[in-house]
Amino acid sequence: MKRVFSGVQPSGTLTIGNYLGAIKQFVRLQETHECFYCVVDLHALTVPQDPERLGRQTLQVAAMMVASGLDPDKMTLFVQSHVRAHAELSWLLQCMTYYGELGRMTQFKDKARRQKHATVSAALFTYPVLQAADILLYDTHLVPVGEDQRQHLELTRDIAERFNNRYGETFVVPEVYIPRTGGRIMSLDNASTKMSKSNPNPGSYIALLDEPDVIREKIGRAKTDSGREVRYDPEEKPEISNLLTIYSLCSGRSIEDIEAEYEGRGYKDFKGGLAEAVIATLRPVQEAYHELMESGAIREILDRGADRAREIAETTLDRVKDRMGLVPRL
Ligand code: AMP
Ligand code: TRP
Repeated sequence: MKRVFSGVQPSGTLTIGNYLGAIKQFVRLQETHECFYCVVDLHALTVPQDPERLGRQTLQVAAMMVASGLDPDKMTLFVQSHVRAHAELSWLLQCMTYYGELGRMTQFKDKARRQKHATVSAALFTYPVLQAADILLYDTHLVPVGEDQRQHLELTRDIAERFNNRYGETFVVPEVYIPRTGGRIMSLDNASTKMSKSNPNPGSYIALLDEPDVIREKIGRAKTDSGREVRYDPEEKPEISNLLTIYSLCSGRSIEDIEAEYEGRGYKDFKGGLAEAVIATLRPVQEAYHELMESGAIREILDRGADRAREIAETTLDRVKDRMGLVPRL
């Protein structure tokens, strides 16, 4: 079976963008691939975090992933900091990555622009190398992610190929896997930026744990154009097209089918229907989430996951150190 790896940051609540863009694919792939999914707490530390909150959010995000349908008997779910090999391989790969390459990463440039330059952490700059280490440790073939991660995946491939050229075949060069629709769910208040949990306006995203009334209100307030035609046209009608994408993915219906249903009915009815489709999608996830958190089962799932992940990661790390000429212990 081919291997899959992906990571999710524990930096706040997950959104329906994470769910549709990434986690739905994670769930599908566990049926056909050997999957490793990781809550990347070391990545979250690249920007300031409150220690107590970071720990809580790590468990919450893991529980949301299981509640979304990840099955502990079919895949491996673990916390990045529980497997030391990630940080160690990251150092080795930093020695193979160019300063210029990292400076071109758009996510770094965006995040750095939002902070005061002098206080941007060095780790925010080397962040994509840790991501490459995550992926390459597991001889990963396929990496399901949203559109925003495409550039990081290109860099991962470049690092793997460079290493293989310099030291001989060591890493599997991974492929990126981005869904045809849903790879980039946009904000509810601005269809030119992606929906993100780090947006200071909670009205811009739907969180996986939002209550039905909150979902109705957020969708009711979502920005639209001044027309009244429910039609998919990303150029002319970016807001309605984004809402149609969410509707289609939550209901399992085609966009044409939804357009036909709301023909001549205006945006209010459409938004009402969309809200109910989102609520129905999230209800079972929310129920499963609360159960997992109350029973404490998530800690055991993560513990078993770390054991399985560590075994594979250490074997790869030993191989890499040997290739690079680091002397093994007796
Ligand atoms: P993050 O929360 O940044 O760790 O992202 C976790 C996964 O969700 C990554 O694969 C992202 O590419 C994906 N993702 C995040 N935001 C969106 C979005 N608005 N639309 C689609 N996918 C997303
Ligand atoms: N950088 C990714 C994000 O922000 C998270 C991530 C870390 C990841 N390591 C990964 C994604 C490895 C895929 C594979 O969404």
